[in-house]
Amino acid sequence: MDARGLVRSVKVVGTAQGLRSVRSAWRRRRADALGLPRRGPERARVPGLAEGADPQPGGGEVRFARSSLRVIVTTGGAVFCGWDGAEPEPSYALVRGCPEPDVRAELEPDMDGGWRVVSERVTVAVSRHGAVEVRTPGGVVLRRDLPPRWWDPVDAAEGAGSRWVQRSEVAADARFFGLGGRAAGPRLRDGSYRLWNTDPGGAFVPGDDPLYLTMPVLTVVADGGTHLVFHDNPWDGRMRLHEGDEGAGSGHDRPGSYELRMDGGPLRSWTVVGTPARLLRSWTTLTGAPALPPRWALGHHHARWGFGDELEVRRIARSYRERGLPLSALHLDIDHFRGNRVFTVNTEGFPDLPALAEELRADGVRLVSIIDPAVKAEPGNAVYDSGSACDAFVRDARGREVRGVVWPGESVFPDFTDPQVRKWWGGLYAERLEQGFSGVWHDMNEPVSFAPFGDPSLPRSARHALEGRGGDHREAHNVYGLAMARAGYEGLCELRPEERPFLFSRSGWAGMQRYGGTWSGDVATGWPGLRASLALVLGIGLCGVPYSGPDVGGFTGSPSPELYLRWFQLGAWLPLFRTHSAFFAGRREPWEFGPEVLEHARVALRERERLLPYFVTLAHLAQRTGAPYVRPLWWHAPQDRRLRDCEDAFLLGDALLVAPVLEPGTTRRAVRLPPGRWYDTATGHAHDGPGQVLLDAPLSRIPVLARAGSVLPVQAADGGVELEVWTPAAGREGSGLVAPDAGDGWERPRIERFTSRIEDGRVLVERTGGGDLRYPVRVRGRPG
Ligand code: GLC
Repeated sequence: MDARGLVRSVKVVGTAQGLRSVRSAWRRRRADALGLPRRGPERARVPGLAEGADPQPGGGEVRFARSSLRVIVTTGGAVFCGWDGAEPEPSYALVRGCPEPDVRAELEPDMDGGWRVVSERVTVAVSRHGAVEVRTPGGVVLRRDLPPRWWDPVDAAEGAGSRWVQRSEVAADARFFGLGGRAAGPRLRDGSYRLWNTDPGGAFVPGDDPLYLTMPVLTVVADGGTHLVFHDNPWDGRMRLHEGDEGAGSGHDRPGSYELRMDGGPLRSWTVVGTPARLLRSWTTLTGAPALPPRWALGHHHARWGFGDELEVRRIARSYRERGLPLSALHLDIDHFRGNRVFTVNTEGFPDLPALAEELRADGVRLVSIIDPAVKAEPGNAVYDSGSACDAFVRDARGREVRGVVWPGESVFPDFTDPQVRKWWGGLYAERLEQGFSGVWHDMNEPVSFAPFGDPSLPRSARHALEGRGGDHREAHNVYGLAMARAGYEGLCELRPEERPFLFSRSGWAGMQRYGGTWSGDVATGWPGLRASLALVLGIGLCGVPYSGPDVGGFTGSPSPELYLRWFQLGAWLPLFRTHSAFFAGRREPWEFGPEVLEHARVALRERERLLPYFVTLAHLAQRTGAPYVRPLWWHAPQDRRLRDCEDAFLLGDALLVAPVLEPGTTRRAVRLPPGRWYDTATGHAHDGPGQVLLDAPLSRIPVLARAGSVLPVQAADGGVELEVWTPAAGREGSGLVAPDAGDGWERPRIERFTSRIEDGRVLVERTGGGDLRYPVRVRGRPG
């Protein structure tokens, strides 16, 4: 038991729930002692020397003395490497299996006894010892994977499998990003990052790792080029990162490197190279287009664990309205369930939920429901009974239902890796729709089972269907939230085919974006938590999940009015803009922090509303291209090292640069600018990048800059859309895209493109392809 576990157990023991969780943790330990294959003696293995190769479409198989390596270059330029017979499938991440191989890419002998595959976008070179280099067409080495090392069980006990480690080198100047949601990011500094979805148990701070949504997806940004690598293996593992060192001009560079150590599972990877935009496009081609949130989900959401009853929900909605504060959605947490049981309603507090939902809807406010996977194990609980009838719950190695402890008490866990179970579970969402909910919020799906010691999850020996292949929790754990999201998403599509589902989830894995977004989970209230909120959104966006946001104000405690406001001002520019907190924490409504905060929060809310057409456009672009709404400053200039190291600002689409205030007492802040001209949107002053400027950041607002020449759709005073055009720099053409809102259904609007330039001293805006502009234009920004 670690120190944290000790604290946890002291806190929980003594209550009935605490005792239950102690028992459950012992049960988990015992189940694993009996049910996991024992690790006996192991033998280390390396590939040995290359002995030959068999060309295949897009590459081929290189045979080594003690292993083999399959290389495939696909038509899109993605590179697959699979050792020891690993194939691209089965995979929870890939959306349509392995893309077509590029038949023009052929495996050919290299000069030094190795092999290589040359393609239009990349060259892959395999040394005779089994090192693999990925190079640009110009010959720049982007990464070098050293020969892997396995530990094979000597007596191949069933299911024991091999552990493995692989070291990879990258450029000395490279920076690392991604690995899912990491509170310490966005730049991932030297350290060990675990790949095991984990509820940190209480609110987290930037030093906590891992968190709820990990992914073996790493973006590496270096002068020589940018690439993304995905180690397609959901087992528990660790990635140890070392940034390189350029030897301070001594000529002795130490490359950047990382070591990936996995407890089992296939040794295989996908690498894509190119500009950041290309990486995300290739990545979402491989793993699926991001789901498009309905338009209302891009407005402001308010949540709280503990609204308690419908009177309180009405009071909140009314208070927003009376104060002129835009509100899109209210979220009901587990307290609206009967005894915390999923898919039930506490009818004392909420006697007529459908009527409440309808009433709110008439005022433009949707209801979103929390959904936890754990089902109270209690005959008579309809969900438990129907799940038991179709054998939906995870069983242990001896065939007994695995029991854990979550909010409703002793619980069982649906096995979402079973297609039949997903179907059953998806059908349960009918009850939520009947209650009037418009969207769902998946929680506790790492999955969590409270434990005062050890891993707060299911036993590793617990059995899972894994799409019929069969296996245990060591393989299923990290994809549990992903598979639950699939169940919910597919259920909603079937039950309400005319509307796009709104779903976001605490846990997930590579490919999560296909079903929805995520949020930061229980971020601790405090300035470090505010900083971590931005890190999480940026990092997860680079892993292909563009829609996310934090609990504005933090999950715990009571933020100072200043901290609350600064969090609110950041949240207003993030895709999921939601205030939320625990029942034991202070309030998070904007009027709870005094008249001054209320005034400034109103400005942020109104600005968010004004920008809705732009957010809608970014959502459509994310779906079509994979580009996250929120991007690091280096998005268009990854070679600019100062941008690479800038962690306190971000780009919102192509047009805006947002510089939140992340420290107390700030009234001015330095803002790093990418190349080009930028206007301070508050003053209209022009600043030329690259460089750094000092801008005012009074309590009333955070600095937001607009790129010269950009054209963005915003809501006009009459509720229609108008084009906001930021004066282009002389002799430069600007542009912008508009996805005309097509409601909450499935129609695919045609993206409209506009350009801007100065002609005869005036700003000229044109629609690409000609024709009427169809939108009023408002020009902003004073020429510098
Ligand atoms: C978890 C969630 C949090 C929620 C709470 C109660 O801690 O992360 O958002 O309010 O459970 O359901």
